[in-house]
Amino acid sequence: MASTLATAGTACEIKPIAEDTVDVSAVRAQFPILKERPGVCFFDNASTTQKPSEVIRVMTEYYSKSCSNAGRASYRLSSQTLQAIQNSRATVAQLINARPEDVVFTSGATDSLNTVALSWGLANLNDGDEIMLCMQDHKSAVLPWFNVKRILAGFGKNIKIVPFEIHDVGDYDLRTIREGVSSKTRLIAMSHIHHVYGMDMEVSDIREIVGPDVLISLDASQSAGHIPVDVKELDVDFVSFSGHKMFAGNGVGVLWVSEKRQPELTPVRVGGMGATLSAESETEFSAPTLQDLLESGTPNIPSILSLVPAVEFVSNIGVENIAARLSNLTRYLYEKVKEIPGVDFGPGPGRCGCPGGYGILAFRIQEVSVSDLGFMLDSENILVRTGDHCVSKASEEDQYVRVSLQVYNTKEEIDAFIEVLEDSVC
Ligand SMILES: Cc1ncc(COP(=O)(O)O)c(C=O)c1O
Repeated sequence: MASTLATAGTACEIKPIAEDTVDVSAVRAQFPILKERPGVCFFDNASTTQKPSEVIRVMTEYYSKSCSNAGRASYRLSSQTLQAIQNSRATVAQLINARPEDVVFTSGATDSLNTVALSWGLANLNDGDEIMLCMQDHKSAVLPWFNVKRILAGFGKNIKIVPFEIHDVGDYDLRTIREGVSSKTRLIAMSHIHHVYGMDMEVSDIREIVGPDVLISLDASQSAGHIPVDVKELDVDFVSFSGHKMFAGNGVGVLWVSEKRQPELTPVRVGGMGATLSAESETEFSAPTLQDLLESGTPNIPSILSLVPAVEFVSNIGVENIAARLSNLTRYLYEKVKEIPGVDFGPGPGRCGCPGGYGILAFRIQEVSVSDLGFMLDSENILVRTGDHCVSKASEEDQYVRVSLQVYNTKEEIDAFIEVLEDSVC
């Protein structure tokens, strides 16, 4: 990565994608934690979001009024729970313009991304095949492929991981993808919005470069519920994301698999419910649906149910309006941070060339370590992420303070944050 950093005074413009029309007071009123902890600025939303009261209510109500396992018994409560899970599936499918039958629940984005690697990778990769990925993406999108490489090597199949790079400004270096793709490339793993650099990683450009035969596994952890995610438009094969990063409970993830890829998958976790051992062979499983194939065992039912109010929260505001607010807040934040003496922006909207801004800004301040800055901010109740941000090959170069905003954050909170930063450089 080139090391030229855009510092204070560099010409750089973030153009919000649309006007911010969100009624932020009405939004904030839906989050109990904002009342419980007045004065706390939660700027670590890429890590997890806070939960609206409807999400908390649905989760509590499951335990207090309808706790039962799903579909395992003939009594009505169990059937109702199964029905509620299918309702969540339909609701999430609608959010991403998918068919419910193409959606499975996992324990999170990490689980979804591992499921892609194991379920598709183990069944389809052969000696000499190549997987492309970016070492500056989140470890959860990267390490599952090294794990598949390790497992396959144990069976005498050597697959190659071909890395591609990220530009100085935070988007993928398309030249390195063009140079890396070959007739052996089977799949490319990529982010939709980068979790540290806050850039849209341009899925359509990458599809154009790799062509129709290379599969795309898209990590939508930072885009689902933040910007419109339409699986029909995206032209990818797998989409993974977590519920907890879009207002739902912890421990639930979503994996969407294109219809075309479903026959290529193998079961990776078997047990109660799900795939059954075939009557004819001890080495064959039977799984008539994608859910049978990939969902087994008791899932995180309250969190699955919480996806309904989480998606409703997003839809009531409008995902385009959330995107517009995040974009406006990013510009406001950038304009203020760039005035701090000695600021070095990381790749992303802080450097030139970012058209919109998706709520994420990475930077550091010369002479102040990022961890000191993190502690200083915490002592003033401003919660940000510092460190290597779950990137596999993080160097000193990659240490940043990451501010990640959500629809409930305000310009006043950003002003309070800026005051602390100004104090830190005095
Ligand atoms: C881009 C990205 N991918 C994957 C993950 C992993 O998500 P989870 O920890 O919910 O499995 C994260 C979490 O920060 C992320 O930001």
